[in-house]
Amino acid sequence: MSASAAGSAVAAFNYAGISCQSHRKIAHFRHLTSPIKLPRSLNSQCRSLNSSSSGIKAQVATIEQAKTDAAQKVEAPVVVVTGASRGIGKAIALSMGKAGCKVLVNYARSSKEAEEVCKEIEAYGGQALTFGGDVSKEADVEAMIKTAVDAWGTLDVLINNAGITRDGLLMRMKTSQWKEVIDLNLTGVFLCTQAAAKIMMKKKKGRIINIASVVGLTGNVGQANYSAAKAGVIGFTKTVAKEYSSRNINVNAVAPGFIASDMTSKLGADIEKKILEIVPLGRYGQPEEVAGLVEFLALNPAAGYITGQVLTIDGGMVM
Ligand SMILES: NC(=O)c1ccc[n+]([C@@H]2O[C@H](COP(=O)([O-])OP(=O)(O)OC[C@H]3O[C@@H](n4cnc5c(N)ncnc54)[C@H](OP(=O)(O)O)[C@@H]3O)[C@@H](O)[C@H]2O)c1
Repeated sequence: MSASAAGSAVAAFNYAGISCQSHRKIAHFRHLTSPIKLPRSLNSQCRSLNSSSSGIKAQVATIEQAKTDAAQKVEAPVVVVTGASRGIGKAIALSMGKAGCKVLVNYARSSKEAEEVCKEIEAYGGQALTFGGDVSKEADVEAMIKTAVDAWGTLDVLINNAGITRDGLLMRMKTSQWKEVIDLNLTGVFLCTQAAAKIMMKKKKGRIINIASVVGLTGNVGQANYSAAKAGVIGFTKTVAKEYSSRNINVNAVAPGFIASDMTSKLGADIEKKILEIVPLGRYGQPEEVAGLVEFLALNPAAGYITGQVLTIDGGMVM
């Protein structure tokens, strides 16, 4: 287990959203924070800056002060992404970092890759830290959530993304293959959600997105363990959405089809050809496409009325 910080650019993030011209980033997560009330003086200064040139220096100074005051009131959402060193999790972490969030980048083994993700987030002007830990282990999960809260004071969004495959036909599947997949892909989601929900409950605000899979809906030859875990994640998502709706915590699942990542690169050319035959759009999805959907569910005000849903992103495989 380890934790390290990279980047501290929240001020830059806050400023990026507060100007007379652009409110894009702030509008993006307004639901997660108190709405920004620009001081009246700032609004009127913006207007008078455009219409008059007299006393302009004093006005600029007033605006800078007001921006500082407003920036201090705005908090960037704190996001934990499990399994964020590679693939879909990495794309999600980068997308959230780009949107101005403070991102905890969890990984199991790939510390260098996780550090790179943090550096990229930092380059966008966000804050990030890595946390090496196995999310199928309760102690690691508790330490991970504590790391985010110790660093940034709260937790707004949890993305349960970490997952593995240990494929094999049922008749040959070893109990160890079954257990490894269930432990991480299902029990890990339970542990992280329970730990995160404790914090979100108190603030009566939060969003949890669980990365399931279309095979949790359809089943798939050779993936009894994986499809059982993903179907479990879907049932879990709906239950938790119901249990926490009164606490203003939205819980949804995203069910990708075949997405280009290390997980699918192991499949081989023959299987890939067969897969593409059953994908109406005729191609693998990209991690960034999944990340875009997750970012919408996690940050967009319009997603505030979506909970307990399973959103497939699969090139039309499951209709
Ligand atoms: N790719 C697809 O086609 C596809 C389709 C449907 C659903 N999904 C789901 O999407 C998620 C991401 O898949 P992916 O394709 O991006 O996988 P991937 O490229 O294999 O990456 C898996 C990530 O999970 C991390 N991880 C593995 N074991 C962990 C553990 N015990 N604790 C914490 N993190 C752990 C890995 O960290 P290390 O780098 O340190 O090992 C890595 O960051 C998974 O839940 C997967 O089931 C993927």
